[in-house]
Amino acid sequence: MNIAVVGATGLVGSLMLKVLAEQNIPYEKLYLIASQRSAGKKISFNNNIYSIITLDEALDKNIDFALFSAGKTVSLEYAPLFVKNGATVIDNSSAWRMDPTVPLVVPEINPEDIKDNRLIANPNCSTIAMIMALFNLHRRYTARRLVISTYQSVTGSGMKGINQLFDERAGKPVSNPAYPHKIDLNILPHGGAFLDYGYTEEEIKLVNETRKILHAPDIQITATVVRVPVTGGHSISLNVEFEDEFDLQDVYSILQKTEGVVIADNPKENLYPTPQMAEGKDEVFVGRIRRDFSRAHCLNLWATADNLRKGAATNAVQILKTII
Ligand code: A2P
Repeated sequence: MNIAVVGATGLVGSLMLKVLAEQNIPYEKLYLIASQRSAGKKISFNNNIYSIITLDEALDKNIDFALFSAGKTVSLEYAPLFVKNGATVIDNSSAWRMDPTVPLVVPEINPEDIKDNRLIANPNCSTIAMIMALFNLHRRYTARRLVISTYQSVTGSGMKGINQLFDERAGKPVSNPAYPHKIDLNILPHGGAFLDYGYTEEEIKLVNETRKILHAPDIQITATVVRVPVTGGHSISLNVEFEDEFDLQDVYSILQKTEGVVIADNPKENLYPTPQMAEGKDEVFVGRIRRDFSRAHCLNLWATADNLRKGAATNAVQILKTII
């Protein structure tokens, strides 16, 4: 089995390599792909030295599985070409997520959607963190409406986001900013481009992707995406209204039994999930679990996950693992 990682020099791509090793994914040949700028660059991985190749060079190789994380434009153009050449593509960009012929998969939730598809989309990082906390509660009590607010790490904007935060912090000029305003000592209610009706792309991803993964087109969802000057993970405040009345102890026990979720919830000890708690981990941490007393059947919770791991690289490798 030959594997390719597209975007292997990037934040998510390099973590995909690490997770492939951690999860002991077997391979014969490994191809590391990035832009023309990086062609020929040497990367050391698993006691081997790999030379970065370009997408066009990769089209001549025999690739069984390709993990794509080089942005939407690259995925739109090259994912179909890789599939045509015989590869199964797991795409971390937003390019194919809402295509009705492409499954959008969180392996704990809807692995059966993969069927015999050879192009599979990895959901948005905040969608994954939120839906991991939600899906088993939804199965038990049926979510009717979600109000989601995210507090997203700069690592979600790639190296550009990290560089802007730390250059600003060091008082250095920012050559290629990721955001239209200062991010250090600031927060920006802005994730992705603004759409005509006042929402941002990232907000609409949360709405559409959640409905698609849960096969629940009627869930009412509204979202606000906020960029905060942190690294380590995305945090999500979720208010969910269920069809049915719930029992809070049962909510705890459902979350305790959910694979990939860890409860961190002890107000007396000031225990709740933070980005620093989630950093470098594959699990989604859930806390501040409490009834919303303002409305019947409503629950509040707080979830945090490493957006580069479960929000991106880990979920993609888990999809690969599910297929093989
Ligand atoms: P490169 O390092 O050569 O620019 P991040 O989001 O962390 O900045 O990473 C983006 C990844 O996508 C990098 O590996 C980057 O490679 C890769 N990439 C960006 N544009 C292209 C492209 N046109 N073709 C192939 N890889 C690309």
